[in-house]
Amino acid sequence: MAMSDVTLKQALDRWVDHERRAVTRSIFVDEELYQLEQERIFARCWLFVGHESQDFVSRMGEESVIMTRDRQGEIHVFLNSCMHRGMKVCRYDEGNTPVFTCPYHGWSYALNGSLVGVPYFKEAYHSELKKDEWGLREVAQMANYKGSIWATWDKTAPSFEEFMGDMLFYLDDLLDGRDGTPGGSEVYSGVQKWITPTNWKSAAENRAGDGYHNVSHRSVDLVGIGPSGGKGRRDTEIGQSVMFNSLMENGHTMMGALQLDDVPWTPSLQNSKVASEWAEHCYYERKKNYGDRARVLGSGGNAFPNFSFWCRQPRRIFVLHPGGDAMTSEFWSWFLVDANAPQEVKDLLRHYSLRYSGPAGMTEQDDMENWNYAAKASKGVIASRQPYNYQMGMHHMEDHPDLPGKIVFRMGEQNQFGMYAFWADLMASDDWDEVMTRRQRRGGLP
Ligand code: FES
Ligand SMILES: [Fe+2]
Repeated sequence: MAMSDVTLKQALDRWVDHERRAVTRSIFVDEELYQLEQERIFARCWLFVGHESQDFVSRMGEESVIMTRDRQGEIHVFLNSCMHRGMKVCRYDEGNTPVFTCPYHGWSYALNGSLVGVPYFKEAYHSELKKDEWGLREVAQMANYKGSIWATWDKTAPSFEEFMGDMLFYLDDLLDGRDGTPGGSEVYSGVQKWITPTNWKSAAENRAGDGYHNVSHRSVDLVGIGPSGGKGRRDTEIGQSVMFNSLMENGHTMMGALQLDDVPWTPSLQNSKVASEWAEHCYYERKKNYGDRARVLGSGGNAFPNFSFWCRQPRRIFVLHPGGDAMTSEFWSWFLVDANAPQEVKDLLRHYSLRYSGPAGMTEQDDMENWNYAAKASKGVIASRQPYNYQMGMHHMEDHPDLPGKIVFRMGEQNQFGMYAFWADLMASDDWDEVMTRRQRRGGLP
């Protein structure tokens, strides 16, 4: 796909086709586009790094980063690559240390990233090396939103709040306690990581709004592995309600349900008395704390580009890292619980989460099978000339006073298409001003 900048811009307008609501398959299989994404998507956008409860080695795009807390308690995010010859400074997944010492030649860095130790500084460098110029490379901007840590390499990127915009409303539903306590969640039991042969966007668009693929999960529904163990309601059955898809600025997307009436409490988590009482308590507390917005029950979504999540049970974060080429992704998943929930509840929900999603979970396996086969079946010469179709719900977006974003009720594919529209804006633009100009040219959201 070698092409000039102008041809690329023209091609992107064709590949993400607003008239037909169609998207070329190249964006899932082409290696040059994959490389360009590293520069124009992952080096520019706000990416999720981890949770403040972790001392942690993470990733931003393909690159390894270290999340540290310095002696003043301030959180930093650094590129995990020694400034001398690029050795990975920290090779552990998590832990504690007063200093990072590079295993290659022994340069050492303090928790605030500064270069504090250089072997043979006097004898070999003649004390001439300017240590203050060779600290670890730090991200350009960082944000802590209700315990979730985000960063971008781009100092010209909009602020975190500006970039997320309406998406913050839905992120609250993920990060707040089930009883509506602001930011009352914690990461429970580490991070699951796995590699899968598909493009990262296939998973992102699924979580972005694919309420249409329930046929894929029929076997899971039949065996009844829900958190109630098949008894009582499923967590997703919520009385008189209507499902919605919400598409927001900057390619952020959400699915959920809007309750239409005041539904009385229906017992859930009935396998455990403690959990069932806790769920009932949270139900009423959430109503008190959230007021009218308690009627909005987010189910899942995707904060552009690759932070996808489920915010009811199983409550999980999935970061969809690009995995080194167009057809490989590395998924990382965090499981969240209410920090103040009883231990029995935390364990019960964690077990359910493991059965249901993640690499060993039944639904994730269904989904991965779809994405993996679709990736292979889209790569051939003939196959790659056919577009994908995103026409469901086309021209049926509306505003709703209680729901941020543009809404399609029941099901639609405007979320997914909107995600690709923003993707194309970023891929075609040299800077953020150009992104905004492109968006204005087509009158905002698709
Ligand atoms: S590569 Fe780190 S000290 Fe040389
Ligand atoms: Fe699924």
